Amino acid sequence: MKIAVIGANGQLGSDVCAAFQGNGDEVVVLTHADIEISSPELAEAALASANPDLIVNTAAMHHVDKCQVDPEAALRVNALGARNLALWARGADIPVLYVSTDYVFDGAKGSPYVESDAANPLNAYGISKLAGEHFTASNAPKHLILRVSAIYGHQPCRAKGGLNFVELMLKLSRERDELRVVDEEYVSPTPTVQIAAQIVALSRTDRYGLYHGTTEGSCSWYEFAREIFDTTGTKVRLERAKSSDFPAKVPRPSYSVLENSALKAAQLNVYTHWREGLKEYLANRAPVAAVTSAG
Ligand SMILES: NC(=O)c1ccc[n+]([C@@H]2O[C@H](COP(=O)([O-])OP(=O)(O)OC[C@H]3O[C@@H](n4cnc5c(N)ncnc54)[C@H](OP(=O)(O)O)[C@@H]3O)[C@@H](O)[C@H]2O)c1
Repeated sequence: MKIAVIGANGQLGSDVCAAFQGNGDEVVVLTHADIEISSPELAEAALASANPDLIVNTAAMHHVDKCQVDPEAALRVNALGARNLALWARGADIPVLYVSTDYVFDGAKGSPYVESDAANPLNAYGISKLAGEHFTASNAPKHLILRVSAIYGHQPCRAKGGLNFVELMLKLSRERDELRVVDEEYVSPTPTVQIAAQIVALSRTDRYGLYHGTTEGSCSWYEFAREIFDTTGTKVRLERAKSSDFPAKVPRPSYSVLENSALKAAQLNVYTHWREGLKEYLANRAPVAAVTSAG
């Protein structure tokens, strides 16, 4: 199978490329230098030259604050970009996979969201991603939409300028005696290697549609930080903070835990509990980083 991976040098995209390559598939690596998804002409040119059997779109404008101040740019990439890829996929009669987000929900439910729950995004990023889902689903009959949450991987997140939450906590623990972390926002932190494995599993089916795809269980950011420090044996004073202690400019859901109902019903779910995902991530950190964090 030949897969065009868009956003291929991103935090998730790099693991998606590795997962398909490890599976013996041919990967066409498309970075932003190779494709501009918001341009119908440039998207078409890159895809025609790639001639894939499947498109995996991990590209996004997903810095939440930047999306809020420039919603047109967010819509151009996350919504119209998705539309351009979906139209091309339909013309070529191939599937397209769109990576989406838990931020399509408002958090009011307070228990895990399933795929049939109504979306109600609170900010421009969530609105643009929900629009991208609709453009994908309405234009490409063979579509896969995978909503992920609180992702972290070994490659830096390009849009957010580097450190993921795990690396940020470990860095701050080396610089400060005390850390205060929000204990009122709940997520299912999900390593990108597990999302990549899930994408490979989905690529083997023709069960098209919408899927939630995050690790099992959930935690607050404080609880996630606690687990990071306990697992690495890091000594630092960790205090619980309220969301109001760090007023955000842009509204975000305080509860965005997803239940992988559709993946489980299709017997396709590959995710572990978030604690196991964290252990695996920490065990596979680059040796230099691991030594530094233990010191
Ligand atoms: N990070 C999270 O916590 C999180 C949570 C939920 C969902 N998601 C979703 O997960 C996906 C992957 O996130 P990530 O952390 O891997 O992001 P990332 O590291 O920022 O990677 C995104 C990639 O997309 C490329 N890109 C951006 N705009 C593009 C455009 N117009 N045309 C072509 N390529 C473009 C970027 O290239 P340049 O950097 O060179 O522009 C980069 O290679 C996104 O769809 C995001 O919405 C992320």
